Amino acid sequence: MADNIDLFTYLPIHLLIVIISFLPFKEAAKTSILSRRWRDIWRATKNVELDESFFVKPGGSISDQKVQRRNFLHFAQQWIKNYNEPAVHNFRLAFARPTNFHGEMERFIAFATARGVKALALDFADPEWNDHDDDFHGNHVALFDLPMHIYGHRVLESLRLYSINFLVFEFRNFVALKDLSLGWVELSTSSLKALLLNCPSLESLSLKKCRNMEVLNVSAPNLRLKRLVIDKCSIDENTIAIEAPMLRFLQYCGALSSFYFDGPHCMQEANLDFMVESEFAESGDLLYYLLQEICCIRVLTVCSYMLQVIPTGEEPLGLSTPLHVRHLILKTAMHENEFYGISFFLKSCPHLETLSIEIGPAKIFEDYEPPYEFETHSFWTRNVLVFRCINRTLKAVEIKGFRGTPNELQLLKYLLKFGRVMEKLTLNFSREVLSNGRNMASYQQIAQQLQQFEIASGNLRLLIC
Ligand SMILES: *[C@@H]1O[C@H](CO)[C@@H](O)[C@H](O)[C@H]1NC(C)=O
Ligand SMILES: *[C@@H]1O[C@H](CO)[C@@H](O)[C@H](O)[C@H]1NC(C)=O
Ligand SMILES: *[C@@H]1O[C@H](CO)[C@@H](O)[C@H](O)[C@H]1NC(C)=O
Repeated sequence: MADNIDLFTYLPIHLLIVIISFLPFKEAAKTSILSRRWRDIWRATKNVELDESFFVKPGGSISDQKVQRRNFLHFAQQWIKNYNEPAVHNFRLAFARPTNFHGEMERFIAFATARGVKALALDFADPEWNDHDDDFHGNHVALFDLPMHIYGHRVLESLRLYSINFLVFEFRNFVALKDLSLGWVELSTSSLKALLLNCPSLESLSLKKCRNMEVLNVSAPNLRLKRLVIDKCSIDENTIAIEAPMLRFLQYCGALSSFYFDGPHCMQEANLDFMVESEFAESGDLLYYLLQEICCIRVLTVCSYMLQVIPTGEEPLGLSTPLHVRHLILKTAMHENEFYGISFFLKSCPHLETLSIEIGPAKIFEDYEPPYEFETHSFWTRNVLVFRCINRTLKAVEIKGFRGTPNELQLLKYLLKFGRVMEKLTLNFSREVLSNGRNMASYQQIAQQLQQFEIASGNLRLLIC
């Protein structure tokens, strides 16, 4: 922004305020040092974020943190006191363990509602509750109740409540609410049903670490939901039922569950992550069933669990009813346990145009059983099948975190040898290779090997980043 400062010199202040309101609060604050004229403009931003992490350093001693929290509260109070604008559009408040500070929190929230806030995010979850920590019954209990006056704030379009108790039946005032995000809270099956009934405009729903559901049932008459995110919720019966005719995007992270889709839907994109599972299971058929229910999607992201488990079903080599997927994203460790799963998806996606391979660490199951025996070093090179997508539709391959391991090179060799219509190969080397980490082939060694690969496409661009 500093480079463009001249450009802004002649704009009137009210336009600068509009521009600055698009910036995250912290970035807006930084503009105060640009020049004298800019010094106070950020104080009029309509995008207000009061987040204790701006002040509290993680890992500090308890007494340090106490001081830092006090400093944050002092800053927030002063900031609000000096705010002169009539309207705030977005307001986010993040403060862990609010128990002794209810008065302050309520004043901050009232500041936002008094200025007609449309997007309100209240986050009282503790950043130290980490993802694997399922202490639902102990420390994770929500200790803050949503202030009653919020239920009368009918203009809300977006609401995020993390670790806050709320009254579902009061949601009926939120006639304009399009985007709802709930986290670290109890949400029974019937509460969710009531929520969906009470918020007829809802287009996006995100449930993170919600607990106490028997089944997760997303269905209501005339539901307009387009986006659904389910992130590590605890669902007693591991059953997810969805009846949402407008649904386009589904992101699921959690235990392997039975999914039921009722009625038509127009899903375009799904991201499925079962990496919380700690044991190998012969659950391939459950995964087929899910894939078949969403076979119309165009963009699919799958995890290493899925790659390892999917060949345990009745059709270990690929689905007989193909998926319509155009872009497949594999989150993989490129371990040999995943080979059959990768070839399963290549076979099941005959129209694939883009293949993204995101290499990273993953849980590899020691008791994995392949459907057929194979030699690790020649899985992709000896007696291979050329799947329909490989020599007909696959145009782009991008590999992120490429390390040039034998398994990675072998798959790449296969793709290059048969990818007749491939136009673009993007290799993003892992940081370890670039910094020449231990046991890593060097960048030059990898490049040398690549040069010897047979390339079927006459029109291939190689991009290295
Ligand atoms: C989900 O709710 C719908 C509508 O209330 C109901 O018909 C359906 O049986 C429920 N599904 C499950 C699995 O509970
Ligand atoms: C793709 O490969 C298969 C198997 O080698 C072959 O039968 C088919 O003719 C190829 N298709 C094209 C368009 O080259
Ligand atoms: C490539 O990877 C690095 C980290 O290894 C990342 O910072 C960068 O954004 C990536 N580039 C692309 C184009 O994805």
